[in-house]
Amino acid sequence: MKALVLAGGAGTRLRPFSYSTPKQLVPVANKPVLFHCLETLRAAGIDEVGIIVSGSGAAVRTAVGDGARFGLDITYIPQEEPRGLAQCVTLAQPFLKDDDFVMYLGDNVFVGGIKESLQAFRENGAVAELVVSKVADPSAYGVVEVDPEGRVTGLQEKPVRPASDLAVTGVYFFTPLIHEAVAGIRPSWRNEWEITDAIQWLVTHGHLVRAHAFTGYWKDTGTVPDLLE
Ligand code: G1P
Repeated sequence: MKALVLAGGAGTRLRPFSYSTPKQLVPVANKPVLFHCLETLRAAGIDEVGIIVSGSGAAVRTAVGDGARFGLDITYIPQEEPRGLAQCVTLAQPFLKDDDFVMYLGDNVFVGGIKESLQAFRENGAVAELVVSKVADPSAYGVVEVDPEGRVTGLQEKPVRPASDLAVTGVYFFTPLIHEAVAGIRPSWRNEWEITDAIQWLVTHGHLVRAHAFTGYWKDTGTVPDLLE
């Protein structure tokens, strides 16, 4: 299995830090948050990693290099303009080819790792698995509706009236069917290709999408209060 790590984006909610540093390189517990992500992937047994970077990605390339020090083989995938998480999947298609992959948002921290979620994906026969977590403020996230068997029945991106308190975290497991889903969606009101829309496409077309509840500590460090926490 490959990994697609997203380390692009403008980081507007993390200004002023993100004026001088990509948000994924802001340190958390004494190292760039992105390093936690790369170590988590290695610990889960994944070593082929594509990293989406803004423009040339000079700062990320300098910090991470070829990945050898993490035990990883890294391919950089430039993104000229941030147009959503699903656009990243499209940009990465030549790297991902027809492989299953985990998409990992490079500003997320998972204490406890992702091995258990990966194992569940390998065993449950779903075309996609979302790692989810209960949150107090679901309207700040992608939100899933799940049936009693853990099947995802619907998704919304940052809904005003959330249908559940289950947030989509920054880890998604996909089979190559996601490429067909991304090709089937249109940009959202904020003019981005939303991964939640592509996953909803899978659900609407009758494919099995599962949610896996993360039991460890998870934080999306994309805002100043979250980063401080
Ligand atoms: C993104 C996704 C959202 C998800 C969140 C998790 O939001 O669009 O569905 O819940 O990551 O960190 P962003 O943080 O880019 O606004």
